Amino acid sequence: MLLRVILAINDNVTRKRIRQILRNTDVSVDVLKGRKDVWARALTKGGDVLLIDQDAVEDAIQRGVEIDPSLLTMPAVVAISDYQPPAKQAELIASGCEGTLHADLPEQTLREALLAILEKRQAFVDASVLRRPMATPQLSDFVSESPTMQAFMDTVLRVVQSSTSLLILGETGTGKERLARAIHAESPRAEGPFVAVNCGALPESLLESELFGHEEGAFTGATRARRGSFELAHGGTIFLDEIGDMPLHLQVKLLRVLQEYEVQRVGGEQPFAVDVRIMAASNRDLARQVEEKQFRQDLYYRLSVVTLEVPPLRERKEDIPALAGSYIGFHQMRIGCEVYDIDAKAVEALVQYAWPGNVRELINVIERAMLLCRTDTITLADLPVGIQGFVPPQGGGISIPRDPAQVPSAWLARPLRELRDSMLADLERVYLAAMLCETNGKIDRTAERAGIDPRSLFDKMKQYGLAKEDFRPKKSKGD
Ligand SMILES: Nc1ncnc2c1ncn2[C@@H]1O[C@H](COP(=O)(O)OP(=O)(O)OP(=O)(O)O)[C@@H](O)[C@H]1O
Ligand SMILES: [Mg+2]
Repeated sequence: MLLRVILAINDNVTRKRIRQILRNTDVSVDVLKGRKDVWARALTKGGDVLLIDQDAVEDAIQRGVEIDPSLLTMPAVVAISDYQPPAKQAELIASGCEGTLHADLPEQTLREALLAILEKRQAFVDASVLRRPMATPQLSDFVSESPTMQAFMDTVLRVVQSSTSLLILGETGTGKERLARAIHAESPRAEGPFVAVNCGALPESLLESELFGHEEGAFTGATRARRGSFELAHGGTIFLDEIGDMPLHLQVKLLRVLQEYEVQRVGGEQPFAVDVRIMAASNRDLARQVEEKQFRQDLYYRLSVVTLEVPPLRERKEDIPALAGSYIGFHQMRIGCEVYDIDAKAVEALVQYAWPGNVRELINVIERAMLLCRTDTITLADLPVGIQGFVPPQGGGISIPRDPAQVPSAWLARPLRELRDSMLADLERVYLAAMLCETNGKIDRTAERAGIDPRSLFDKMKQYGLAKEDFRPKKSKGD
C-alpha cells in the first residue's frame, strides 16, 4: 500500500530537509502550510504518518485531543522541534505520539529514524487493513483431468510471473475471482496486497472515490480524505470485478492508470505513481459491449492483451466428481455434517447436468444435499429434482400411479411441501431460462411472454442466478 505522509512543519529549512529525505522513498507527501487549525486540517487529510510541529501537538493535547495510535484513522504522530527536554518527550509519547524528533539532527540520523517510522507504520497498516483471506486459493485448485481446462491452465501458467494486465472472462461462478487470487498468490507480488473492487456494486460517484480516493472537501460529505483502491493495492494486485459495469467516464480514468500508472484522487491536484498489477473480470461479452458503445474500445484493447476465458463447468465435466468430493470435505468442516461420500448414481446425475451457475451452483447443490441427507452418503434423492434428470410431464394427462415405482423414489422420501417448493423452483428456473434463450435475453419480451411484470422477472432471475447476458447469441471469433 502507498503510505501517505502529511508534513505540517512551519519552518522552511526543516520542511525542505524532510521532503528531500522522503523524495527517495515510496510514499506520497502532502504539505500543510500555515499554523491556523493545523491539527484539525492534518487529521482531515487522512494520512498514515503525520510529521508536525511539536507545539501544534502540545496545543492539541492541552485542548483534550486524544491521540490513539491503535486506530487506523489516526496517523502515527511524530512531533518535530528544536526544543525537546527529556520530560517533554516522555510526556508526548505517553499521550500517544509515535515519537519526537529534533529538527537539527544530522542528515543520516534523521533519515534512519524516518525510515524506521515508515516501515513500522507500513507493517501496522498491512496487518490491519489488508487482512489476507484464511485460505488462499492456489493454482493447483485448477489442476484438471479435462483437456479443455489443461489447455487453459497452460496459458495461465505462462502469465503468472509477469506483471501484465489480465482480462478474465467466463460465465458466472466459473471461478474468475478465485483464479485471480491464485495467480496473485503465486506471482512475485504475493507479499503485496490483493484488493478486489466490484465495479457493479457501487453507484457511480462512490465507485470513483472507491477506486481513486478523494481529498477532503472533494464533494459534499467528504469530510476526510480517503485513499482509493489503487493506492491500497500499491505493490500488489487490484482486481476489478464486473468491469463491464464500469461507467464510461471512469473507464477514461482507468485507461489513464493503465497507460501512465498514475492515479489522481477526486478533488486532488497532483497525480502520483502507483505500482499495481491490474486484473479485470467480467461475465459479459465485452466485445459486444464495445460494439454497443457501452465499453470503450481503447480500454478493451489495453485490457485484453492477455485474455483468460475460464471454461464453463459443462465443458470440463471431468472435474465435477473431484470438485464435488472436495466440497463434501469442505462443508463437513464448516457445517459439521456427518456426510462423507456421494454414490455413483448421484455423481452421474451431477455430471449430466448443464450447470448454468457453474462451480458456485455445484457448491450450493452439495451443501444442500448434505443438509438433506439422512445417511452418510449423498444419493440421487438428495439432489434437486432438476438435477436428478426429472422432466416435468407435458400436457395435462398425468396418469394416477398404481405402483410407487412409477414416480421417482426421491419424491416419496420428502415431505410434500418441500418437494412441491423445490419442483416449482426448478420448473420456474428451467422455464425462464428456456424463454430467455428464445428472446435472446430480452427482459421486456420475456416478461411479456411469461405474463409477469419485468420487475418480478428480474427478481426471479436474480434468485435463480440467470443473467440476461448469458442468453445473448454468442458472436463467433471471426466476426
Ligand atoms: N477450481 C475450483 N476449485 C474449488 N473451488 C472453486 C474452483 N473454481 C471456483 N471455485 C469456487 O466457486 C465459487 C465461485 O467462484 P468465483 O467467485 O471465483 O466465480 P466468478 O467467476 O468470479 O463468478 P461471478 O462471475 O458470479 O462473480 C467460489 O466459491 C470459488 O471458491
Ligand atoms: Mg466474481
